[in-house]
Amino acid sequence: MKHRYHNPAPPQIPWVTEAFFDFWSTRFHPLWTLRRPLARLVSRRAEGSAAVTVVLQPNRHFPGLLPGQHVNIAVEVDGRRTTRSYSPTLLPDGRLEITAKLVRGGKVSAWLAGGMPIGATLDISPAFGDMTLATGASQPLLLLAAGSGITPMRALLRQLDAAGMPAPVDLVYWIRERGEQCFAAELAAIAARHSNFHLHLAVTGEGTPRVGGYDLSAIGDLAPRRVLACGPAGFVQAARERLHDKVVAFEAEAFSLPELADVETGEVELELSRSGRRLRVPRGTPLLTALEAQGINPPSGCRMGVCNTCVCEKGQGVVRNTLNGDYTSEPSTRIKLCVNSASTDLILEL
Ligand SMILES: Cc1cc2nc3c(=O)[nH]c(=O)nc-3n(C[C@H](O)[C@H](O)[C@H](O)COP(=O)(O)OP(=O)(O)OC[C@H]3O[C@@H](n4cnc5c(N)ncnc54)[C@H](O)[C@@H]3O)c2cc1C
Ligand code: FES
Repeated sequence: MKHRYHNPAPPQIPWVTEAFFDFWSTRFHPLWTLRRPLARLVSRRAEGSAAVTVVLQPNRHFPGLLPGQHVNIAVEVDGRRTTRSYSPTLLPDGRLEITAKLVRGGKVSAWLAGGMPIGATLDISPAFGDMTLATGASQPLLLLAAGSGITPMRALLRQLDAAGMPAPVDLVYWIRERGEQCFAAELAAIAARHSNFHLHLAVTGEGTPRVGGYDLSAIGDLAPRRVLACGPAGFVQAARERLHDKVVAFEAEAFSLPELADVETGEVELELSRSGRRLRVPRGTPLLTALEAQGINPPSGCRMGVCNTCVCEKGQGVVRNTLNGDYTSEPSTRIKLCVNSASTDLILEL
C-alpha cells in the first residue's frame, strides 16, 4: 500500500507567485511550501564501509512511494542544481532512508555523505519505477543485487517481512569486499525470522564469480521464480542473458548506462524549435549530455531512461536509443533525451 500524507488543496493566493510564497514560508519553516515536495536531512550514518544512509523527513506534498520505486532528488552542489535518482525505503513513521554508495568523484553521493548540513532541505520528485510487488503476491522470488542495487531490494524485503514472507525468496547480493555489505544486521534478522528467505552473499574479491558464472544450484528449481535484478548496466545485462528464458518472469533496473559500441561518429545539427537556437552536437552522445555540454539544461532526473523527466518532442530526424541501439525515425515522436543520441540532423521542441 502506498504511504500517503494528508495533502489538502493549497490555498489560492492570486497576488502571490508560488516561488515568492515558498521563499518566505521556508524562512518560517524549512518544509513549508505551497506545492513543492521537499525533504529535510534529519541524520546520516555509515552503511558498511562504502555507503552512507541518510534519513529524510519529507513535507506533506511528497505523495509517498511503493517499495522498490525510486525518486529523483535535486541538490545545489558547487552552485549548480544537480539531480540524481535513489531508491528510498519508507519508514513506518513517514521518513525516508536513502542509501548512497560512495562514488569516487561523485557529486551528489559526496554531498549526501558529508557536504549537506543536517537540517538542510532538498527537492524530491514523485516516485517512479515498476519493480514492485502486489500486496499478497505469493510467487517465489529470486532477487539479484549488485552494489547499490541492494537498495530497492531492501525496501521489497521489508515489505515481504511485514507480510510474513508469503513465498520462498532468495537474495543473491554481490559486493567487492565483505565490509561493503549494506543492511547486514537487518538482512540477517529477516533471515532469522523466516526460514523461506535465504541470503547468498557473493564477495567477488574473495573469488566468487559474477552473475554470469555464479552457481545458482542452491536456489533449486529456477523455472517458477520471478527474478528482480538491480545494479550497474553490465550486471543487469549479464543477469538477463543468463536467466530471462529460464524463469517465469525477469525484470531488471540498471543504475548506470550500458556502453554501446561507438558506431556513430561526426557531428549533426540540432534545431531547437522553441528557442530558435541551432547547434552542432556529436553523433552517438546522449542528447541530454550533448545539450548540457553547450550550457542548455533541459529538465532531467535519472539519466537512465526510467523517470520520463527529460521527455521531449522530436519534430524530425533520426535518433538512436543508447540502451539497445534501435533507431527511431518517425516525425513528431516523444523521445527521452538521456537515452537517445542524434543520428541525423534533428528538430527538437526545446
Ligand atoms: C533509478 C535509479 C535508482 C538509483 N538508486 C540508487 C541508490 O539507491 N543508491 C545509490 O547509491 N545509487 C543509486 N543510483 C545511482 C545514483 O543515481 C547516482 O548515479 C550515483 O549516486 C552517483 O551519482 P554522483 O552524483 O555521486 O556521481 P557523478 O558525479 O554522477 O559521477 C561521478 C563519476 O562516477 C561514475 N559513477 C557514477 N555512478 C557510479 C556507480 N554506481 N559506480 C561506479 N562509478 C559510478 C560516473 O561515471 C562518473 O565518472 C540510482 C540510479 C538510478 C537510475
Ligand atoms: S532523465 Fe529520467 S528518463 Fe531521462
